Amino acid sequence: MADCRGKILSVALFLIFISGPLLPKAFANPADLEIGRDIFYKHCKACHGDKGDGKTFAANVLNPPPKNFTAEKSKKELSEERMIHSITKGRKGTAMMPWESNLTKKEIRSVVSYIRKKLMQL
Ligand code: HEC
Repeated sequence: MADCRGKILSVALFLIFISGPLLPKAFANPADLEIGRDIFYKHCKACHGDKGDGKTFAANVLNPPPKNFTAEKSKKELSEERMIHSITKGRKGTAMMPWESNLTKKEIRSVVSYIRKKLMQL
């Protein structure tokens, strides 16, 4: 019996141990969200709009228009990895420019967290 309890305990500890690295993904750090919001307001709002719906003056003159992050289609199609990649490298042939020389990897991650949590409400 004592042997069995020991096993349960080690399985429980193992689960806690392996879930550790997953936690930061589930709970985006509030400090990162603030950094992300500042970046979004400074660099992205002009095209994507402060609500992220893409309804901006710039949208009238851009083809394709800026992504509306709040649309159901965007929520399905934009994975976290895809967003990070598109922001880093830009989208060829569109007004979405690469940001890798202006923003650090961490800043790009922060702005993605902000868009996903606060604008896409994922
Ligand atoms: C000059 C206007 C402009 C600015 C500024 C801009 N974007 Fe974009 N963005 C666009 C356009 C246009 C698209 C649509 C590209 C397409 O349809 O392929 C887009 C698409 C995107 C997408 C979706 C890409 C995909 O894979 O479909 C993301 C994510 C994004 N922008 C994030 C940002 C972030 C973050 C910033 C600020 C750091 C930013 N954008 C600044 C115009 C802009």
